[in-house]
Amino acid sequence: MSRFIVLEGGEGVGKSTQAALLAGALGAVLTREPGGTSTGEDVRNLVLDRSHRHLHARAETLLMLAARAQHVEEVIRPALEEGRDVVCDRFSGSTLAYQGYGRGLELGELAGLDAWARAGCEPDMVVLLDLAVGAGRRRRPAGPRDRFEHEEDSFLERVRAGFLELARNDPARWRVVDASGSVEEVADAVAAAVGPGAR
Ligand SMILES: Nc1ncnc2c1ncn2[C@@H]1O[C@H](COP(=O)(O)OP(=O)(O)OP(=O)(O)O)[C@@H](O)[C@H]1O
Ligand SMILES: [Mg+2]
Repeated sequence: MSRFIVLEGGEGVGKSTQAALLAGALGAVLTREPGGTSTGEDVRNLVLDRSHRHLHARAETLLMLAARAQHVEEVIRPALEEGRDVVCDRFSGSTLAYQGYGRGLELGELAGLDAWARAGCEPDMVVLLDLAVGAGRRRRPAGPRDRFEHEEDSFLERVRAGFLELARNDPARWRVVDASGSVEEVADAVAAAVGPGAR
């Protein structure tokens, strides 16, 4: 049975690094949100671009969900139907954590909109990479900061606490991994959480 595995977490926790390692070990399709399709990558550029700093939270949410709907239909669902595993760097958890806990939009409404966008496609497992906000910031390579990296620590703290609450509320699906170790140590912990074939 093909598996849909999502890596979640805040800024700079190591999601992209670990998603690539996990997808390599599993021979899975590696993809990311926002993005994953040419439409979604255009949406990614738009929502991360600081020239759109006045983007309203509801508009931000709908753009993220538009990218997700396209991603599900163009990439994720077809890959799973072909029997491939899929590893995705961010998915619905990020919508709830950033636009819900972070921006303050109502969680039940967001969950309903997200469910409509992904139309029945849901992860089998979500691995949350948990790391202190300051540690994530220190890992960030030098260079211009995007709209989310530019947020205040208080926003990123709400996002971190939100992810942890999402994990507590759905322990059958979510696993929390301490992301403070080396790349290798975190990869071992992710592989242990995911189980057979992940190493
Ligand atoms: N365990 C680790 N220890 C130290 N540095 C790490 C570790 N994992 C990743 N890094 C480095 O930290 C930076 C952020 O990692 P990565 O891009 O994988 O995080 P991310 O969660 O995808 O970040 P973003 O939120 O910006 O997408 C990169 O420069 C990466 O090489
Ligand atoms: Mg990344």
